Formats: sequence, C-alpha cells, structure tokens
Amino acid sequence: MILESSVYKEIFGPLIVHESQKVIKFDTETEVVESSLVNNIPREEIYEIFKDLAIVIPLKNEKLHLLDGVLKAIPHRCPIIVVSASQKDIPNHFKMEIELVKHYYSLTHSRVMIIHQKDMGAAEAFKEQGYMDIIDENDGLIRFGKGEGMLLGVMLAKAIGARYVGFIDADNYIPGAVNEYVKDYAAGILMSDSDYTMVRLKWRHKPKVMQRGLYFRRRGRVSEITNRYLNLLVADRTGFETDIFVTGNAGEHAMSIKLADLMSFSSGYAVETHQLVFLLDRMTRPNHPEKLKDVYEQGIEIFQIETLNPHIHEEKGTEHINEMILVSLAEIYHCEMCTENVKKRILEELYSRKILKKGEIPPKPRAMAPTGEIDIERWFKKVKKRSDTLVILE
Ligand code: GDP
Ligand code: CO
Repeated sequence: MILESSVYKEIFGPLIVHESQKVIKFDTETEVVESSLVNNIPREEIYEIFKDLAIVIPLKNEKLHLLDGVLKAIPHRCPIIVVSASQKDIPNHFKMEIELVKHYYSLTHSRVMIIHQKDMGAAEAFKEQGYMDIIDENDGLIRFGKGEGMLLGVMLAKAIGARYVGFIDADNYIPGAVNEYVKDYAAGILMSDSDYTMVRLKWRHKPKVMQRGLYFRRRGRVSEITNRYLNLLVADRTGFETDIFVTGNAGEHAMSIKLADLMSFSSGYAVETHQLVFLLDRMTRPNHPEKLKDVYEQGIEIFQIETLNPHIHEEKGTEHINEMILVSLAEIYHCEMCTENVKKRILEELYSRKILKKGEIPPKPRAMAPTGEIDIERWFKKVKKRSDTLVILE
C-alpha cells in the first residue's frame, strides 16, 4: 500500500499525532517506490500482521446481511470477535447471529467467536477481579453500550493472544471497504516505531442519497463538530491553532494491546472521543509517571489514515446524531485540560442546536478504568467456565 508520508505531526508529551495520510495506491508489493512524499508498505508485510490482529465487531440488532458481508470481507487470518448486544427475546436476534456465524465458519474455517454482552461468565470474570466499572448495578451483568462492548472485545482479543485489536462496525454496506479498513490498520501498525500505536480511519467520502443521485460528502455531521472542539481544546492550551485532529469519532480504529492495556474506555458512544481526551489528559500529565517509563521512551503514535473507499453505513436519524454530538462534546467539556473558553463555546454549540436547554450542562461521561492489570488468563478461564452465550469456533 502506498500512503502519503507523515510530514507533519504534533507532539504532546509522549503523544505523537500524525496528520491525516491518504491511501494513494491500495495494493503494492515489496518494491522500491522512489519518493520521499510517500511510504510503501508492501502487501507481504501487511499479510504478516493479520494473525496477530483480532477484529472486534460490536453489534446491536443490525441487519444480518450486513454482518454477513463484514465477516466475509475480513482477511482470513484475522481472528474475529463478535460482541453482540442484540435482542434475545422473541424474535431472538442473537440466536440468528450465532447461526450466521456458525454457517460462516463452516464455509471458511476462519477463526471466529461470538459472545453476548449480557453473558453471565464475562460479568462474573470481571467481578472476580474486582473490576466493577463495566458492571450494571441493576442486573449485575455488563452494561449495554458500545464502549462496554468494545472493552469486552479487547479483553477477548488479549485472551486469545492477539497483539493488536481493530474495531469494525457491523452496519457497513460495503464489504470492500471493510477489507480495506483492516489493511489500513495493518499499514498504520507497520508505520509505527513504537509498541504503543493507534490507527484511526477517516473516510474519504460519506455518500448520501439525494434526488439527483449519490452525493459524496467529505465530512460527517458529528465528526466535524467533535474535531473542531478537540482542535480548539489543544489550541487553547498550547496557544497554537491546529487542525491536527480529524478522527475524533473514528469508530473504525485499531490499537496495539500494549496501548489498550493503558487505555480507558468510556460508556456508550462517547468511546472514540474519550480515547483522545484520555490520552491528552493522562499521558501529558500522568499521576504515576514512574509507571510509564517505557511509554515515555517509545512514545504513543497515533496515525490517521484517509481511506480510499467511501463509508456507507446504516443512517440512524437525527436523534442518534444529536446523542453522538452531546456525548462527544461532553467528553471534551469534562476533561481535565478543558478551559473556561472551550467550555463556554461547547455550551453555545449545544444550546444553539437545541441539544441542551439553556442553563443545562452536558452530563458527566462515565469512564471505565484501564484493564491492563487484570489477570487475563484467570479472567478468560472464568468466562469460559461460566459463560452462557460464548461460541468459539477454531
Ligand atoms: P455510528 O455508526 O457511530 O453512528 O453508530 P452505530 O449505531 O452504527 O454503532 C456502531 C456499531 O456499534 C454498530 O455495529 C452497532 O450495531 C454497534 N453497537 C451500538 N450499540 C452497541 C452496544 O450497546 N453494544 C454492542 N456490542 N454494540 C453496539
Ligand atoms: Co453506523
């Protein structure tokens, strides 16, 4: 794959944030490409990574056809982990998902597991380790929410020995795009000089159906707003305006397990913005710098890759969009480094969009502590022993 070189980057403490890099040629081999403006990541090296790159698919009542396309598009050697929050009473959506996954496995023999987010074993395994941040007080099981599903997925990825974990939404209409995303993750991982790596994808276009046909939008409604305030947050702190952040809501992203171990996940849809805010807050002003010696030596590299494929997913309506804007801006509003000026501007944004009433402030997000210190072998043993939904096919 040929990508634009990362010419420009911003450095915040150990964080190295690369500016967005476009995919220029999707599929290349080991060959010399003579230009300092581009980077060639050969296909052979990309394929080498797959067995260590687990793909987590968070899933909640999506169309089965879409899940089927996503499964089939993921490169064969990537282990797949489906974390479902789908309905279990009649109609039992989760049961249909299991059938689909089993059928997919019988055709491909591609390593895959599926678990329900309300799995009894998974909840007990967390509780046994004293990790209550993910537990729902009402039913004693894992809370619903996308961030919670992702965190469960990360744990399972680590448990099966993955070195990297990537997330792919289940509601993607273009299997070819999914296939690209996984390769973009691998390319980002290969570009990194650090063991602490994150790769976030920025889609090139997000087509919308209009009367005249398809219209290829360059920006999403939510991401444009989130990115603006993330950049403002940094500018207000450093005194230098920047456009560096372009992936504040990147649902499609990957990271090394070493970084995932340090990462806090936040509840629900706030999770992607939270990752950046958390890294800015915690890594630039750590509570225990002595624990982060290796991180400081290696740095944390964040790549933002602009995909070749357009992003077409299920459109979920204004209410969902407003919820996303609210929780993303709430992350920025409540972060430690947020200034009064940024807070004021966020409130104005939310009032003018009528997402909040005048005088209200965004609800404080719920963050879940990093899971790096959990004994993963013991955790997984417990999950397997007590699980009532886990299906592992390999
Ligand atoms: P958007 O694409 O960011 O606007 O949000 P989506 O509603 O499409 O959600 C992204 C992905 O997360 C989709 O595959 C959803 O099915 C999935 N998802 C949403 N909520 C949950 C949840 O509570 N748990 C799990 N496991 N997945 C979820
Ligand atoms: Co979606």
